[in-house]
Amino acid sequence: MRSLSQRAKALKPSATVAVNARALELKRQGIDVIALTAGEPDFDTPEHIKEAARRALAEGKTKYTPPAGIPELREAVADKFRRENGLNYTPEQVTIGVGGKGVLYNLFQAIIDPGDEVILIAPYWVSYSAQVELAGGRAVVVPTSAEEDFIPDLAAIARAISPKTKALVVNSPSNPTGAVYPEEILVGLAKLAIEHDLYLISDEIYEHLIYEGKAFSPAAVAPEHTITVNGVAKTYAMTGWRVGYAGGPKAVIQAMTKIQGQSVTHPTSIAQWAALEALTNPKSQEFIAMARAAFDRRRKLIVEGLRAIGLPTTTPKGAFYVMPDVRRIHEDELKAAEILLERARVAVVPGTDFKAPGHVRMSYATSEAAIQEALERIRTLL
Ligand SMILES: Cc1ncc(COP(=O)(O)O)c(C=O)c1O
Repeated sequence: MRSLSQRAKALKPSATVAVNARALELKRQGIDVIALTAGEPDFDTPEHIKEAARRALAEGKTKYTPPAGIPELREAVADKFRRENGLNYTPEQVTIGVGGKGVLYNLFQAIIDPGDEVILIAPYWVSYSAQVELAGGRAVVVPTSAEEDFIPDLAAIARAISPKTKALVVNSPSNPTGAVYPEEILVGLAKLAIEHDLYLISDEIYEHLIYEGKAFSPAAVAPEHTITVNGVAKTYAMTGWRVGYAGGPKAVIQAMTKIQGQSVTHPTSIAQWAALEALTNPKSQEFIAMARAAFDRRRKLIVEGLRAIGLPTTTPKGAFYVMPDVRRIHEDELKAAEILLERARVAVVPGTDFKAPGHVRMSYATSEAAIQEALERIRTLL
């Protein structure tokens, strides 16, 4: 058989998938494993959103849509940006994609040439580096540490900028650290983007899951340089529906849409109508408040529990992840995750691919009972 592309060969499968596979294998053997690996809310999609999908289906909204998404949804997203983020994007400056991930994929394809550099602030979500590399770019990593609450140092980012730097990615609240950046840091990043003429990619997918501090969109400072990426997955428990969106300069948005038009065309029509309902029906606000309160209770439970058993951790202020230091279990986080799985029957994601040595990522998007049981098992292990 002829060989596979260099691109396919170079791409690493995600560590999360590998841990999940091993956890599932143990479960199949009848072993009771507690998974703290989920990257999605454990709540069901709210009923009013499901009903909108059923309605779209009944009304025959089952045909191709424009590649940028249905106009109603682009308008609702522009309204949302104005209402919640103080951003003035016209509907033409909005594109709808296949999840936040699909939007980011189109974006990197639209702005990166071979050899271009993209600055990532570590620990970071693994798909950023994979997608940058798929576009022929190179990820330049600026580390942050638990001691500084995983908040980046603006001077360190400025030092990482080179003539090849095309873009800088910021993700607040952060997956995997749960860090919520103070407004002055986000403003500082926006100013760096203007000063060095870079694209600032602001991934705001966890914006509604903030427990301390508040959301701020850097596009308010650097509208000509920022692409604001978001989606319905985490806010409305709609991970499987695959609808994300972005707002940004018209030329970038058009390029992203052109790429989407020649690849997946657009997200499923029915899912777009459901996303429209999620963004516009006031009932969604009750759901968000309920989910946020539940996550906040679990966050306190897991943070206090980890500290009580001797695993140091920063206080995550948003999203639904916590990243304890596990060097007490093993110096090498891959080994620590393996020990947690094999001996404590608790599945976590090693920090390796997030560039978080000595740490693992635990998701608290699971029940309080499961969190308590996981903590008890780790305490026994220690
Ligand atoms: C930081 C971050 N950005 C974007 C996404 C993409 O979410 P989706 O493609 O489900 O909208 C995720 C999902 O895990 C994420 O954690």
